[in-house]
Amino acid sequence: MSAVQPLVARMQGFGTTIFAEMSALAVETGSVNLGQGFPDTDGPPEVLLAAADAIRDGTHNQYPPGPGIPELRRAIAQHQQRFYGLEYDPDAEVLVTAGATEAIAGALLGLVEPGDEVVTFEPYYDSYAACIALAGAHRRVVTLRPDDQRWTFDPDQLRAAITPKTRLILLNTPHNPTGKVFDRAELQLIADLAIEHDLLVITDEVYEHLIFEGTHTPIASLPGMRERTVTISSAGKTFSVTGWKIGWVTASPALTTAVRTVKQFLTYVNGGPFQPAIARGLALPDGYYEGIAVQLRHQRDVLSDGLAGLGYDVIRPQATYFATIDVHADGVEFCRSLPKDKRVVAIPSSVFYDSGAGDNHVRLAFCKRPEVLDEALIRLKGASS
Ligand SMILES: Cc1ncc(COP(=O)(O)O)c(C=O)c1O
Repeated sequence: MSAVQPLVARMQGFGTTIFAEMSALAVETGSVNLGQGFPDTDGPPEVLLAAADAIRDGTHNQYPPGPGIPELRRAIAQHQQRFYGLEYDPDAEVLVTAGATEAIAGALLGLVEPGDEVVTFEPYYDSYAACIALAGAHRRVVTLRPDDQRWTFDPDQLRAAITPKTRLILLNTPHNPTGKVFDRAELQLIADLAIEHDLLVITDEVYEHLIFEGTHTPIASLPGMRERTVTISSAGKTFSVTGWKIGWVTASPALTTAVRTVKQFLTYVNGGPFQPAIARGLALPDGYYEGIAVQLRHQRDVLSDGLAGLGYDVIRPQATYFATIDVHADGVEFCRSLPKDKRVVAIPSSVFYDSGAGDNHVRLAFCKRPEVLDEALIRLKGASS
């Protein structure tokens, strides 16, 4: 066996993640795992049954069309129209992907040249850094900082991050891991800079329906932005089916074609029987969408109030699955000892940063049943074992 490092240089540093380490520790110690963001309850029965029916009746068990089945593309276009007044042509401007993850990879690989720069906000979702590196590009980050329970950024840091090499801004709103919902003024600033410097925007909106405070505004809905924006979302969070991996892109024909050109050689297609089921889900009445946030808000409050009651410094999220605590000490050390001391697993936010701005922050997921959250709080309150 050659002694040469087999992993390509651009992927070095993306080896074993803290998620793998923490999940292993969770199993070893019998911990309540508030590390990974997936729900522990099922989504709407109509959607689950539609997938089962599609498998049983044998109509969707072979390769679906490359861009996704027409029924799902129409449902995605109708969803964008219904919630945001955005019109997309289901044939030329909608693409079904293997989760938002493939859409992010396809968009970055299809739109960014080696040597280009991508501006994004830290803390950032981990696949952004990996896909920017796969594209041979460089990331430049703008730091989100908590300020009296609201995460903000310095507009001058954003302006300074844009250079002649910048190709696009990669946005995530509502934002993982902070739970921030970018407000209209912040989005307008990003849009103004994108237009001024002729940049594209990729926006990851997978938490669009998981909002407790504030309003989700797709940046594509701002004047002048539709033609330069690739909007990405997925079914995983909205319908509690993170394992189905059905995501999508809405964008102008040229941008959709760029993403599809790469996507066809990544997975080609995926999730045949899940596609009609998600089409069914996207057509559910408004009451369903309102209900998601009501249930999750309760879970957010159980965890956030409970942690505050135990003396933790909690930064309550406006949206998503995650709350942050400032442990006023090294977050990695804190998270490494928590499973042994308290039998609870959390994730140090520092893994989502390039700078040290999140070194004392820890992320906990509340997309778990209230009794699971209560158990975690009881353990956190208990004496160290
Ligand atoms: C911000 C963000 N984007 C994308 C994804 C991945 O979405 P999917 O499971 O649809 O690939 C996640 C999942 O946690 C996420 O938090």
